[in-house]
Parts: sequence; structure tokens; C-alpha cells
Amino acid sequence: MPDAYILGIESSCDETAAAIVRSGEKLISNVVASQIATHQPYGGVVPELASREHLRAIVPAVRQALAEAQQTYESLDAIAVTRGPGLAGALLVGISYAKALAFALDKPLIAVNHLEGHIHAVLLEERQKGNHSLQFPVLALVVSGGHTHLYLAAQQGNSWTYDNIGHTRDDAAGEAFDKIAKLLGLGYPGGPVIDRLAPHGDPKAVKFPSAQIKHRDRRGRNDGRAVAPDDDRPRFDFSYSGIKTAILRYVETHGLRGSIDARRKALLSIPKPKLEDYLGNCDQFTLDLVASFQRAIVDDLVTRTLNAARAYNVATLFVTGGVAANKELRDTFEREGAKEGLPVYFPSRPLSTDNAAMIAAAAYPKFLAKDFAAMDFSAEPGLVLT
Ligand code: KG4
Ligand code: ZN
Repeated sequence: MPDAYILGIESSCDETAAAIVRSGEKLISNVVASQIATHQPYGGVVPELASREHLRAIVPAVRQALAEAQQTYESLDAIAVTRGPGLAGALLVGISYAKALAFALDKPLIAVNHLEGHIHAVLLEERQKGNHSLQFPVLALVVSGGHTHLYLAAQQGNSWTYDNIGHTRDDAAGEAFDKIAKLLGLGYPGGPVIDRLAPHGDPKAVKFPSAQIKHRDRRGRNDGRAVAPDDDRPRFDFSYSGIKTAILRYVETHGLRGSIDARRKALLSIPKPKLEDYLGNCDQFTLDLVASFQRAIVDDLVTRTLNAARAYNVATLFVTGGVAANKELRDTFEREGAKEGLPVYFPSRPLSTDNAAMIAAAAYPKFLAKDFAAMDFSAEPGLVLT
């Protein structure tokens, strides 16, 4: 099989990304245009602004990805783009551009599920390191700003399938990081800031009760399908709205509002705050709260995921998505996985958060299977992974 050069395009949320991957196993170029500066003053992603920024950034991002890869439009073998899930307007920018390119160049177009992309970020980098012998069953935790999902991933020939055995009932883990950072006046996005601040606080200072999920979710597989009456397999769902409410209450009862407002104003006046700026604007009390919050989320993610790994007797664990960039999460998964003899794989940090390399990598098996998208396919903001 000759090498296939696939251009990936990703625009589902707040990063405009383009990348070229060779045959699903070699990252040739990887361009990510971040919109953090645009959304920062609002403390979260503003969908209209995201679409506008994608429109502005997409052509330069693709050109740069081609230039860095020393490829041309003509030398590409296929164009892959994120179909969903994500923000409708943001997805549409990437999809419209990918369709136009595929049509003008007469190249195949491949539609990719963003969540499948996160899983293939791990596969891409493992293949790149020369690791071609993956042990199945594989359990993948996709943990990002919009998702906290557990999938059993299986491969048959060129086709991958994903069986959802757990999801969040309310907030995603990354969403919890973002909301708590916003609540504490630490800005957006919350995950990277909390990651860097947590080592400066005492993770045992504040205790949070772990979420109790007693009832089976009637939505079952999180794909709108009813649970089959005979499907009594164990499920491992998550819930993070309780911890968010607990911190909100903590802020109120400890009278932290004034100092939070002052911190928010101070940090907003610094164009690119550094760690010292954050530390200089946080008292020890706040640092302890941040460290305790992160410890609670990490412990919950690791405990539930390893319970699922045991229940389904998996041989390999993938942890991927933006929150997989978190140092404490990586360290804890590695330590606890090793205790059970379970190999745990993460993407490198740049490929944990949104990127287009993962989209180009996930497209390769579809390219081999000639699973091409029709020109009239549309964005699917609520696309599920099966
Ligand atoms: O995968 P991603 O880039 O976008 C989505 O698909 O949602 O994930 C973004 C999420 C955000 O919630 C962000 O706060 C979180 O990942 N995140 C982190 C870290 N880096 C990004 N959370 C914890 N620690 C980090 N280092
Ligand atoms: Zn993502």
C-alpha cells in the first residue's frame, strides 16, 4: 500500500487546526490556531466569535500545514474534517472549507467524529513510536471540555467500533475545571491554570463527597437509544455538578466574593498572566481549594475508570482529550494502572487538546475502507460515537 497523505481539518470548538499525517502513523505537520485571546474576556467560548475566528484562521492554518509538510494541495490523497460533536457554526466553517477543497481538487472527503479523533491521537503516537502491537480489549477514557466518556474500542480490519459503557450525567470534567476557574476569578480556560496552581496548595485541605450515582441512566448509552431491557452490563457514569455546587457554597459561606472579584480584575489587566501572576493574586486558602478540587476530580476519574477496566477485564487503557494534559491525572493513572499491571497510554500534551492530527489519523482506516463522505453531509453538533 503506497503512503497516503491526509490533510485533517478541525474546527469543532475554539481551536482552528490543520495537520498532515502520513498513513495514520506519522505526523508531518500540525498547526493549531488558538482562540484563547478572543474568548478570555468572556470567561468561556462565545459560539459566534468562535465561528468568526475559524473563518479568519482556516485558510492560513491549512496553508501553513501544507508548507510545513512540504506538500501541495495536489499531492494530498484525501481531506478529512470533523463532522461533530461540537458547535454547529464552528463545525460548518471546517466542513464547508473541506468540501470546497475536496471538490476543487477532486480528492476524497472523509468525515470524522471528534471523539474518535481523540482516541486515534493515542494510536497515531504509539505507531509513530514503533508500537504496533496493541492488546485488546482497549478501554478509552475521553475526557475533555465537552465530554467524559468511557468506550470499549474494537478493531475489525479497517473498521473501528466503540461501545459506550459510561458517560457524564451532567458536566464534563473539563467543563468543571473551566467553571471552577471562572468562579474563582482565574480566567479561561480553567484546566491549564488549575493544573499549574494545584501543586502550590494542600489537596487534603477541603473534603468533597464523591458523586453517588444510584439510578441507571434511562438514556443508557448517551446516544438517544433506549437501553435494551436485557442489557444489564455494568455502567460507569460520572457526575461533576455536585462538586461545582459544593465549591460555590464554600465561596459564599467563607465570604470569598470580594477577593475573587479583585483577582479577576487584576488578572484581566495582565495580557498573558504567568504562574507568578496567578500565585501573587491567590491566597493560600484559594490555592488549597484549587488543589483539593483537582484531587477530587482526578481521584474520581481514576477510580471509576479503573473500576470499569476491572469489570470489563481490559488489557489496555487510553486516556485522551484536553483533561488528559493534566499532570496529576497522568501521574495518578500511571501509578494506579501500574499497580494493576494495566498499561496506560496518553497522547503527548499537544495532541491531548484539540488538534487536526487526530482527525487525519482517524481518517486513515476510513481511507483504506473507501468510507468517503457524500458532498451533501452536514455538521452534527450532537454526533455520537458508536
Ligand atoms: O479536548 P479539548 O481541547 O476540547 C474539547 O473537545 O472539549 O479539551 C478542552 C478542555 C477544557 O475544558 C480545558 O480546561 C481542559 O480540556 N484542559 C485541561 C488541561 N488542559 C486543557 N484540564 C486539566 N488540566 C489541563 N492541563
Ligand atoms: Zn476535543
